[in-house]
Amino acid sequence: MKHAERERTQAATLPQGNIIRILLEQHAQIRELFVAVKASTGAPKQERFDELRELLAIHEVGEEMILRPVSKNTAGHEITDARNHEEDEATHVLAELEKMDVNSPEFETKLSRFEQAVSDHAEHEEHQEFPTVLAQRTEEELKRLGKRLLKAQKTAPTHPHPTAAGSPGMVKVAGPFAVTRTRRTLTTAETEAEVFAVSEQAAQGPSGASRKVNSTLRHAPSTPRPSGVGPSRSAKSTINASLTPNTVSESRYSPPATNS
Ligand SMILES: [Fe+2]
Ligand SMILES: [Fe+2]
Repeated sequence: MKHAERERTQAATLPQGNIIRILLEQHAQIRELFVAVKASTGAPKQERFDELRELLAIHEVGEEMILRPVSKNTAGHEITDARNHEEDEATHVLAELEKMDVNSPEFETKLSRFEQAVSDHAEHEEHQEFPTVLAQRTEEELKRLGKRLLKAQKTAPTHPHPTAAGSPGMVKVAGPFAVTRTRRTLTTAETEAEVFAVSEQAAQGPSGASRKVNSTLRHAPSTPRPSGVGPSRSAKSTINASLTPNTVSESRYSPPATNS
């Protein structure tokens, strides 16, 4: 099973809004965007890379601000310091890639090395960090963390800021750069936030829930995305899952046994 597919399968075993579910889905999207960048040429390649850069930037900021303070206790300082260090390095490489011509051979070489580093980093998180958070926090806490993650990512900088990387405090200072974010970068994060609101309202009564579903669908991206690019497909499946009762298993996520 491919990495992205495995991550989506694991994510689907967790309840909507759970922070680890959201992060696993973002890992899958990041992997798919790497594939999409490599498969494109010309202007579309730049667009795919911009999507990848933005998702990576908000993903890592969210982890550093919301996940790390928790995993520092559940997994230990040594592990979280190592993850913060990897993210710091990734942010520097991402900032260098951002300045390059995406159609140059140099970009291709650097991107491939970067993809491997990002993949290794995700594996470390999924094996050493996520399982400890799932095991030591209640479902309620994990959903609350998921909500806070999505909120932080909505205002996170969408360009890499090497001086802020690896330091949650500095990441917060970089917040105002979020104004550069475009409509195109609407990701599962926002859809998940809407869907989570739907499930919360559904628990309170049917009328509020249907209003929220309509609002979610009205605000969905109006232009089709190229096939193979994660966000819109994932967003659709998330909405569908929210409309179908009992589609999400309550079983706990268990860490992957081996690399696929
Ligand atoms: Fe990370
Ligand atoms: Fe991650």
